[in-house]
Amino acid sequence: MDAIQIRGGRPLNGKIRISGAKNAALPILCATLLSDGQSKLRNVPALRDIDTTAALLRFLGRDVEVTAPEVHVAAASGEPRPLAPYELVRQMRASVLVLGPLVARYGRAKVSLPGGCAIGARPIDQHLKGLEVLGANIRVEHGYVVAEAPRLTAGEIVFDIPTVTGTENLMMAAALAKGRSVLVNCAREPEVEELGRVLNKMGARVEGAGTAVIHIEGRDELDPFDHAVISDRIEAGTFMAAVGATGGDVLLENAPLDDLEPVVVKLRKAGLEIEREGEHTRVRRLGRLKAVDATTAPHPGFPTDMQAQFMALMCCAEGRAVLTETIFENRFMHVPELMRMGANIETRHNTAVVEGVKKLSGASVMATDLRASASLVVAGLVAEDETIVRRVYHLDRGYEHIEDKLAAVGADIQRISLERGALP
Ligand code: EPU
Repeated sequence: MDAIQIRGGRPLNGKIRISGAKNAALPILCATLLSDGQSKLRNVPALRDIDTTAALLRFLGRDVEVTAPEVHVAAASGEPRPLAPYELVRQMRASVLVLGPLVARYGRAKVSLPGGCAIGARPIDQHLKGLEVLGANIRVEHGYVVAEAPRLTAGEIVFDIPTVTGTENLMMAAALAKGRSVLVNCAREPEVEELGRVLNKMGARVEGAGTAVIHIEGRDELDPFDHAVISDRIEAGTFMAAVGATGGDVLLENAPLDDLEPVVVKLRKAGLEIEREGEHTRVRRLGRLKAVDATTAPHPGFPTDMQAQFMALMCCAEGRAVLTETIFENRFMHVPELMRMGANIETRHNTAVVEGVKKLSGASVMATDLRASASLVVAGLVAEDETIVRRVYHLDRGYEHIEDKLAAVGADIQRISLERGALP
């Protein structure tokens, strides 16, 4: 079993190249199901979630070649199989993104319900209600959603809450539905906007992706595409938090500053200097860190995917920061681990009150989700002595070679192999 070993206390200096965005690449990979020709994605990060999606697409009858940062997808010669099995969906909830494309393309889809996960219950009722509006007949049997519709027809969908993958699923379904659909109260995340760009390349007419109201003119057939994926704003934000914690001066190459504005504003208030340099972003910490409150919200609010890393930063700031999580009901799994490293945090319902401490101390820690694991890496970089972050497979789902990127800017960090039952 791999773990990440960090000896904290070194400032970070140098350059880090930001990879393609996981949460943009996943729906785009699923969009390849909407057409039969050969599609090409560029700037795809080498991540476990990308491999899981490739495995799912292969299971569904596609030829997929992953040679990061490129992925090629084409229809295989055999019969397509519109079935997403539990074994693959349980590894990655985003697998549910094949539901819309499959029913739109083949008139039938059978997709395992993902179930809850470490950060919350995460139902998919909004995906299903939306597909029903487009004329799909939906039933749940034996843990699977079965959606059927000989041909989807356009409709007006009003989401009860903005959902990222829900909006994406319905955009892909509407792109092959007959007529002009309207999606209202959509998620406005940059990754949704990016999917709109890809669907337009495929020949659908999508207007408003990235705003609350999206219009989509469906087509009978869609074309394959060639697309370079946008940079990962959450990866960039995570490295900004790391520089904030350790101090130093790092140029983040290809960091999407506009998409990260809500985080950048908070980081600047906390004492970081963040400046655009052409396509890149320079991050520095000069003085002492100050405590800043943050409340997560759908884009363009403070992203829930940055809450844990921001909390790690606040653990070493001067003063008291109040952090409130409004998107997921169970996204404070990092708190007890940060406390084992000497953080002073009190949680009540969805609020964490973080009292900054003078120093964190290294410990053996582990987390149950991706961003929580990233927060422990940030804490480890500033903590005294050695930190071992276990369950690295969470990090591998969403951060491309995180230890190499941090080591290249001066962190004392490496991947180690822990024998089962070893006591580091
Ligand atoms: N929700 C419902 N019903 C639905 C759909 C969502 O009640 O049908 C609720 C969820 O339970 C949650 C809220 O709506 O409380 C928002 O969830 P959303 O659907 O937007 O989340 P998601 O699409 O499942 C994506 C990202 C997550 C990110 C969230 C929020 C992908 C593949 N995943 O998930 O990314 O946290 O949006 O921004 O895009 C991560 O990368 O670490 C990650 C968890």
